[in-house]
Amino acid sequence: IRRALGARSIVLVGLMGAGKSTVGRRLAQRLGLIFKDADIEIEAAAGLTIPDIFAIYGEPSFRDGEERVIARLLRAGPMVLATGGGAFMRDSTRGRIIELGVSIWLKAELDVLMRRVRKRGNRPLLETEDPEATMRALMEARHPVYAQSQIMVLSRDVAHDRVVQDVLEALD
Ligand code: S3P
Repeated sequence: IRRALGARSIVLVGLMGAGKSTVGRRLAQRLGLIFKDADIEIEAAAGLTIPDIFAIYGEPSFRDGEERVIARLLRAGPMVLATGGGAFMRDSTRGRIIELGVSIWLKAELDVLMRRVRKRGNRPLLETEDPEATMRALMEARHPVYAQSQIMVLSRDVAHDRVVQDVLEALD
């Protein structure tokens, strides 16, 4: 797998709660690649948490910063890169990911996503009256775009290591 990648990175895309960070970290370990989480890199670059970036500068500025951080990380590949759920939605960011990475959509059912996002808050887009309805709307809007990724793997409601195994098989 590593030889086939060359300088390209494995880039995990998909909705909040799909398991991009957990699966990505373990996948990197299995492949002997470094792992980076774009959200964490953005927070480090800004010196602010993501909810604070959204609150102070707004989502468009967050998306600009996200694109710059992802472009920088992709130039430093190969690595396994977990991206925030909205990154792949922006044409220019998606273009960079497709050019310099192998994109993998981790696709999960609504109830799986909701169960996982409840475990970790700090997602400004889900601070709504009805987070489940918001998630459903995001699924509808985003799935057609996530479907442009090179590979799709179901993020099933099983141990994350089983999903890692599915990703490795899909890459093989
Ligand atoms: C977002 C997803 C978050 C984070 C930000 C916006 C989105 O990342 O980048 O809150 O638009 O879906 P995760 O997918 O890692 O939760």
